[in-house]
Amino acid sequence: MTEFTEFSNDIDLINRFIEEKTFCGLENSIVLNAMKYSISNGGKRIRPLLTLYFSELLGGNIEVALKFGCALEMIHTYSLIHDDLPCMDNDDMRRGKPSCHIAFGEENALLAGDALLTEAFSTVASSGADPNAITLATKYLSEFAGIKGMVMGQVLDLQLEKSTPTLEEIKKMYSLKTSALLKCACVLGCLTTNEIDVNIIDKACEYAENLGLAFQITDDILDIVSDTETLGKPVGSDEKNNKPTFVKLYGIAESKVLVNELSNNAVAVLKSFGGNNEKLINLTLALATRKF
Ligand code: IPE
Ligand code: IPE
Ligand code: MG
Ligand code: MG
Ligand code: MG
Repeated sequence: MTEFTEFSNDIDLINRFIEEKTFCGLENSIVLNAMKYSISNGGKRIRPLLTLYFSELLGGNIEVALKFGCALEMIHTYSLIHDDLPCMDNDDMRRGKPSCHIAFGEENALLAGDALLTEAFSTVASSGADPNAITLATKYLSEFAGIKGMVMGQVLDLQLEKSTPTLEEIKKMYSLKTSALLKCACVLGCLTTNEIDVNIIDKACEYAENLGLAFQITDDILDIVSDTETLGKPVGSDEKNNKPTFVKLYGIAESKVLVNELSNNAVAVLKSFGGNNEKLINLTLALATRKF
């Protein structure tokens, strides 16, 4: 198994940026504390890592990649805060700590999510990137995170709890709730280069579509086979909420085969980029065998 520790320097870089450079100059408040509490250490930082590695692969501006990637991490963190609320998955633990609404109350968790979402756009706007890159980053962030992307995935996730969906319906839900933000991460990396290329963006999305499906199936497997201490969030959440998952349809063994297939598809797309794709390949393989 490729060790996740291989990425620890880059994760440290991201964590330091989040600790030192985000939310500067904002007036202290309970909601600001809730935002900081939820985004600080504990996440795997997959999305900013993908932004950094796509930027590196394509010879982009790493400073800008860090800012874009951390903006997306804010959006991802907001999605987790809201996902845990009693009206959604009703989960009490996240990233090894009490969920935001347990620590700060539902009203502050809701507002911390709202503020993280808007702060993400402010981070992109003030990133110092080329104006064209800022415009495109704003467009992709809003499309992949909003009603055409992650939010729609969460809508389907909640609706499908009440039905017996087909494989295609589950796949569409995974693609929107999980692959969309991973696509956004990769595309943001592509936007840090001098020459933005639509064909490269399409290929990055093809990679992230496969990675995202594998990532969500693994999340569903871990929800059954792992434990709360390792995961940092409750296990058995999907069963509790009657979530339709690939694992429910196919069982764990077959789902693992699927994760392998999808991860191999993702690696094949990475190989077609050529260049320095080693970190991305290793990250993809490490995610396929992750334990948390
Ligand atoms: C959890 O995402 C939500 C899913 C899309 C499955 P992560 O597994 O990336 O969560 P963190 O950021 O590491 O906490
Ligand atoms: C997460 O799916 C999707 C989001 C967009 C947040 P899950 O509900 O399975 O994620 P976890 O297991 O709570 O992290
Ligand atoms: Mg959920
Ligand atoms: Mg959840
Ligand atoms: Mg889950």
